[in-house]
Amino acid sequence: MLSSKIVGIGRYVPEDIFTNDDLTKYMDTSDEWIQERTGIKERRYAKKHEETTSTMGLAASKIAIERAGINKEDIDFIIFATLSPDYYFPGCGVLLQRQLGITKTEIGALDIRNQCSGFVYGLSVADQFIKSGMYKNILLVGSEMHSMGLDFSTEGRGVTVLFGDGAGAVVLQATEEKDKGVLTTHLHSDGTHAEELAMINPGSHGGYFLGKEDFGYPETDDPGGVFVTQKMIDEEMLAPNMTGQLVFKTAVTKFPKVINEALATCGYKSEDIDLLVPHQANLRISQFVQKLLKLRDDQVYNNIQRYGNTTAASIPIALCEAWEEGKVKENDLICLAAFGSGFTWGSALIRW
Ligand code: UT7
Repeated sequence: MLSSKIVGIGRYVPEDIFTNDDLTKYMDTSDEWIQERTGIKERRYAKKHEETTSTMGLAASKIAIERAGINKEDIDFIIFATLSPDYYFPGCGVLLQRQLGITKTEIGALDIRNQCSGFVYGLSVADQFIKSGMYKNILLVGSEMHSMGLDFSTEGRGVTVLFGDGAGAVVLQATEEKDKGVLTTHLHSDGTHAEELAMINPGSHGGYFLGKEDFGYPETDDPGGVFVTQKMIDEEMLAPNMTGQLVFKTAVTKFPKVINEALATCGYKSEDIDLLVPHQANLRISQFVQKLLKLRDDQVYNNIQRYGNTTAASIPIALCEAWEEGKVKENDLICLAAFGSGFTWGSALIRW
């Protein structure tokens, strides 16, 4: 029986730190408000027009590959999770393959669009490919450059203060060791509230799901339309929107449920978890989940205080930091869990 083991892990966060006080220069907010509601003290922003989502993914991947002790040519599949890709298409997977210099092997590259759950979804996909014997070494990356798409005016403050840039990567490898590696993964979604945490423009929707809202589409005789209109640019309709309280309330019910689902599948209880690495959405959400599951502080890893919410990158960055700090040890039971836009959510249990 094959299973998949994380044999290398890496992370990259940009150099430039933006504190809550720095944000007050652009919008009406305060360090006190942000810390009290989210726990965030600072976040990193990539160097605009120099770094991209794929270049950050590359930096994290190089470390993961080196730590895995394999050659980049040994990678036989790439999975790249992001909501902030370099291009509308193609996805970051092929850009990463090109930057790694492994185009000659012509391996497949898959892009995942599951926002905050992207890494857990990617892990599950990779795990199935490895278990089936199809691939031996899969590079799984989560990377985000939110700073290029946020609204830094007061109007955007409810979303903008939460998010930061960064990347994390793992190499998953096939192993025949018993009860090691990824033990189980659980994926869920409910599209009922798809627009409650979303960036709907640019897109092909033409207003379809959005009632009578006017997006300023030009009247033309030809069959073609446009993704972006002048109105979207003028009226700042090209930024993410979020109904924060709905997201919060749903997250605190789905996180414990999906974690318990993973534990029950393997016959474990929450006290068996050595380390829970939750998606870093909001420190208050993590604390709520910790309380509900009756976990001690040392059983939960949080770093949102320093990086904000880095969406698809948040779990691999946190897992990597925890591993670097010696908090993820051989044979530990590690639980990953995520919830976010879609809504999509999921969990994984790993015997390290
Ligand atoms: O990965 C999943 C991603 N998202 C999440 O997990 C987010 C989940 N939701 C949340 O974390 C919280 O809902 C937020 C932190 C986003 C917001 O906290 P809240 O307690 O739900 O605040 P609110 O949206 O109800 O806003 C309360 C007040 C409003 O003012 P009024 O109407 O009471 O006068 C907002 O305009 O706070 C105001 N506000 C701000 N004030 C200062 C909203 N954003 C800010 C801000 N600075 N950045």
